[in-house]
Amino acid sequence: MKQTIRLRVNGDTYEVAVPPWRTLNEVLREDLRLTGTKRGCGDGDCGACTVLLDGRSVTSCLMLAVEAVGHEVTTVEGLATARDALHPVQAEFIAAGAIQCGYCTPGMELSAAYLLSRNPSPTDDEIRRGLSGNLCRCTGYQKIFEAVRRASDRLKGAAPPDAAAGDPAAGGPAGGDPSGGGARP
Ligand code: FES
Ligand code: FES
Repeated sequence: MKQTIRLRVNGDTYEVAVPPWRTLNEVLREDLRLTGTKRGCGDGDCGACTVLLDGRSVTSCLMLAVEAVGHEVTTVEGLATARDALHPVQAEFIAAGAIQCGYCTPGMELSAAYLLSRNPSPTDDEIRRGLSGNLCRCTGYQKIFEAVRRASDRLKGAAPPDAAAGDPAAGGPAGGDPSGGGARP
């Protein structure tokens, strides 16, 4: 049996009729067509489905859509304020060449954004732990770490922006520990 729920996603309000067992990931991708949020393992292990819930990273494959009612969801589509105004994490992923196939990228970027929102000056070890819930099978992680370091510098005003172009939907977290400790539902 379906029930109509109201979801807040990227600042917009959506009404959608869903069965109680439908995951937030399914609703985002299939009902709202926000396909920047990926689905990998479906078991909470890969982080591809990461979104922010009231600013905290969560794995949307493990969360029911009904659990998101009353909360603010941010997907990779909402991380950038405009197509030509990417979030520093997104811009630095592009600048550092931290994107290959891109499947992990939305989740990685949201986990990185969450990490930097809680810890603006993470150590290398804290970056590793902050992204520990996100798997990438292409990059070897080094360029991703470099992108997060650069985004940290940029957010602190220590580095000039050097990549402000690109597709917000290509970049853009579930994740690891911002201190970094995970925030899985
Ligand atoms: S799809 Fe892998 S953690 Fe959600
Ligand atoms: S870029 Fe392909 S899985 Fe990370």
